[in-house]
Amino acid sequence: MTVRLDGAVAVITGAGSGIGRAAAHSLARRGTRVVVTDVDAGRAAAVAGELGDAAVAARCDVTAAADLEAARDLALARFGRVDVVMNNVGILAVGAVEDIPLEAWQRVIDVNLLGVVRSNLVFLPLLLAQGSGHVVNTASTAGLLPYGFDRLPYTATKHAVVGLSESLALYLRPRGIGVTCLCPAGVATNIIENVTFFGEPKPPRGPRFPVLDADPVGEIVADAIETGRFLALTAPETADDLRERAADIEAYLDRIVGEQG
Ligand SMILES: NC(=O)c1ccc[n+]([C@@H]2O[C@H](COP(=O)([O-])OP(=O)(O)OC[C@H]3O[C@@H](n4cnc5c(N)ncnc54)[C@H](O)[C@@H]3O)[C@@H](O)[C@H]2O)c1
Repeated sequence: MTVRLDGAVAVITGAGSGIGRAAAHSLARRGTRVVVTDVDAGRAAAVAGELGDAAVAARCDVTAAADLEAARDLALARFGRVDVVMNNVGILAVGAVEDIPLEAWQRVIDVNLLGVVRSNLVFLPLLLAQGSGHVVNTASTAGLLPYGFDRLPYTATKHAVVGLSESLALYLRPRGIGVTCLCPAGVATNIIENVTFFGEPKPPRGPRFPVLDADPVGEIVADAIETGRFLALTAPETADDLRERAADIEAYLDRIVGEQG
């Protein structure tokens, strides 16, 4: 089951910047009308303005179910349907695990994981009733591989988004709805604005995969929707690491501990 983007309608969260903005542009170029949502209303309006008549902006905080309901209602009122939902918001709490307080964990879980859960509750009844559509969840390489020990709330929630997405595919595919889990490696965006640091600042940990501009990531998302692909990576090296880890997880962990220790 694939969605034809020409003539489709998409709602994207966190679309005022970075990967969400790039996806909005790629989808619009392929003929999709886009509800550009972001907690920053000015950014959402700016991106919708870049897209012209093909887009409408909405302020939407993914921690507020009512904001997601309003975005759904706006999509229906302006464009008559919803075909694609991209849950794209992610924030980070960075520091040694003993320095990150419980409140910071709760905030990251509320945004990164429960933001997707809220969206599912709002949009899936619509997609299930029409028996078609596509859900894109933005996780991260940090949701697949064990590197981010300096950002454990991020790593844990992104792993949860990967697991949620894969299990969701089991439920939705037989019902005519596709699921993509986008797991980017480094992408040049404004993500640093969404990072809260705790304790002594240290250089960030992570695999040395190439950093992409956001624009090609938008194209990767659009291609994944049109081909019905589940796992969308931005760095092929991620797949190499996944294979290495699957073949011998003990040796893989030894290697990463040695590199990062
Ligand atoms: N940039 C990277 O290297 C990278 C790598 C892997 C995964 N990701 C993931 O990609 C996604 C997009 O990040 P990005 O890099 O484009 O960052 P970005 O900061 O450029 O864009 C994120 C947008 O989300 C918005 N936002 C923040 N909190 C929000 C909330 N509560 N509700 C609604 N909107 C909110 C921000 O205003 C911003 O416009 C995130 O889930 C991130 O974890 C990014």
